[in-house]
Amino acid sequence: MITTRYPPTEKEIAFWRSIRQQFYLKDDVTYLQGGTVGPSPRPVTEYVISLLRELESDPLNNGGGSLLAPLVEESRRKLGLFVGAEPEQIALVINTTMGMNIPACGLPLQSGQEILMSDQEYGAVKAIWEYVAAKKGLKIRTIPLPTPPEHPTQVVEAFANGISRRTQVVVFSHVYCTSGLVAPVKELCQLAHDYDAFAVVDGAHAVGMVPVDIVNFGCDFYLSSCHKWLLAPKGVGMAYLAESFLDLRPATLGFGLNQGHPHRFDVAGTRDSTHFAGLGKAINFQQEIGWEDRIRPYCLSLAARLKDQVLDRMPTAKLMVPTDTEQSGFLTTFTIPGINHGKAAGYLWQDHQIQTVSVDVGGTPVFRISTHFYNSHSDIDRFIYALIETVDTRSDVKI
Ligand SMILES: Cc1ncc(COP(=O)(O)O)c(C=O)c1O
Repeated sequence: MITTRYPPTEKEIAFWRSIRQQFYLKDDVTYLQGGTVGPSPRPVTEYVISLLRELESDPLNNGGGSLLAPLVEESRRKLGLFVGAEPEQIALVINTTMGMNIPACGLPLQSGQEILMSDQEYGAVKAIWEYVAAKKGLKIRTIPLPTPPEHPTQVVEAFANGISRRTQVVVFSHVYCTSGLVAPVKELCQLAHDYDAFAVVDGAHAVGMVPVDIVNFGCDFYLSSCHKWLLAPKGVGMAYLAESFLDLRPATLGFGLNQGHPHRFDVAGTRDSTHFAGLGKAINFQQEIGWEDRIRPYCLSLAARLKDQVLDRMPTAKLMVPTDTEQSGFLTTFTIPGINHGKAAGYLWQDHQIQTVSVDVGGTPVFRISTHFYNSHSDIDRFIYALIETVDTRSDVKI
């Protein structure tokens, strides 16, 4: 039995209910899929819409530059403060996928060398590195991750088993989208550097879920999608580059080449920048509630309750994410042997309007449950009840 930290008082329940009212989420939908894409709070969306109206009222005059450019730079500044990096080193890209192209296309990769990653990296990230490895004659070395590891050192050991003097790049996730594992990012960057390899961090799930302190981590590249846990408008991502990489060849060439750092790496060409202006509002929204003092403890209490319920009420279930908060955050994963997880997730939506997803952790199917501050403790009880009912009554989910 895991101790549920921060059990909510009536006052807190009322507080988080009032916060939930600030989202467009439907009352009859239990949204436990914020890891795939998060809902932006109403003030963020309304702000973006108001900017869009203003822009459309005069597309070329103040809309093109003087209206949005300072707001975008303000978003970049706030993001820099939030992730512990200078804004000059943060490019505003569309998402992690686009950001990952910066090191993949820009680094001077050498034929005969190796790219090291785990067996649980995101599909698009694998595809990007497999493509450049094949084009440039490098080998991809894949190591299995312990699931769940008992201690962060086991994750470092797993990567250490695959690293060698031939390793040119180490690619790993800060938070694994498969199991929810929070990796020891600083130690993994150190390991890469001990072997003179570049440390490329896929932080898609980390920003807004776990404390991110990029300069302290010591990574060379850190990529993230702000439309997940940060709840920014969709299509807002970041790419951090350590200082020595700021002159790298950008993945997309454009005017930014002559505009200095970090614009060289920003999304290029004519575009709608209102979403990037909305990023600052999204950060404000969480900071005004108190990300560190209120949101994170509350979300950890939701995850702890979920883990408790899984272990207490589903005797055959196995947690695939560690239980300690050094190695886990707001993503909870578990497997139930003998169940078609994808089918069960389909019934949860069809019968109960509960949004979840089933993913694969090193060959084992799991339910992946995302809990953010728009969720409540009763959302978790509803999910557990519905899952038990689905398994009991839907005979075709049994295999
Ligand atoms: C670990 C991880 N990396 C990268 C991505 C890609 O994110 P995006 O689609 O926003 O580029 C995802 C998306 O879910 C992910 O989970």
